[in-house]
Amino acid sequence: MSKNSLQYFKEIYKKTLTSIYDENEAMSIWNIVVEKVLHLSKIQQMLNQDKMLETDEESKLLSVLEELKTSKPVQYIFNEAYFYGLELYVDESVLIPRPETEELVELILTDLKERKLNQSKLSILDVGTGSGCIPLALKKHLPQSDIFGLDVSEKALLVARKNAELCKLDATFIQQDILKNDAWDNPPLDIVVSNPPYIPIAEKNLMSDNVLNFEPHLALFTENDEALIFYEKITRFAFKYVKKGGLLYFEGNEFNVKKLANLLKQKGLQNVRIYSDMSGKGRMVQGVV
Ligand SMILES: C[S@@+](CC[C@H](N)C(=O)[O-])C[C@H]1O[C@@H](n2cnc3c(N)ncnc32)[C@H](O)[C@@H]1O
Repeated sequence: MSKNSLQYFKEIYKKTLTSIYDENEAMSIWNIVVEKVLHLSKIQQMLNQDKMLETDEESKLLSVLEELKTSKPVQYIFNEAYFYGLELYVDESVLIPRPETEELVELILTDLKERKLNQSKLSILDVGTGSGCIPLALKKHLPQSDIFGLDVSEKALLVARKNAELCKLDATFIQQDILKNDAWDNPPLDIVVSNPPYIPIAEKNLMSDNVLNFEPHLALFTENDEALIFYEKITRFAFKYVKKGGLLYFEGNEFNVKKLANLLKQKGLQNVRIYSDMSGKGRMVQGVV
């Protein structure tokens, strides 16, 4: 195999990245890099395995690999992440949107359709909005609705507003610390959604380097061991500002989802239901105010 062929570089990437990621993940990172650096889709790549690379292409691939070796997520290297059909800007001030959160958006849209609310003008707030992925995906599919995103981080809000502009979608982003301030100066809400921080800071050491060293800790961890503190505050907020019969949707994880559902029942939410993600793990909880 020639030392400047595409195939050769693929092998170098595979060997290097499988020390950090599993093979599937390593190869999907390789596909993203090839698409961004060489502008070749996965299929074009397969058809061009023997392609000889130019010197500048080789050095670009090697410099990206150097960054990847530090465990830096590929989305931060290219400042780009895909979410529910949207191409979003991301940097280290926001969490990289996860496929599980796409499932939360899917759940909300399906549920609203079943309730015949998908054509209504709804007022929807996402608490802890980060890149703005949830509100922007919702706005795309519910264009008649008023969409809000709230975050304590000014830097995250800059990213969310940038994404609204890039995607040409209209949403209002508000800076607010939901743990300290539960005011709401806008009209009453129909829906509150949130994928809040839920990892107790004591579990920090269990996280992998690519998450721990690059993703914002503000987005991941709760300040102390109260794993459900955000859910509790957001539910209290919802009881104040969401119309009777309105909906609350949360993302959690397989370890906290039952406790979360119990908490919501205790707080007085009706019809509390747990939904599983694609891998069959309980992850989302929905309730009626
Ligand atoms: C798990 S991330 C979710 C980001 C985005 N919604 C997503 O699903 O990719 C949680 C978000 O909550 C924000 N956050 C953390 N503490 C907060 C607080 N006290 N008040 C409001 N937002 C907060 C973080 O800045 C972060 O953007």
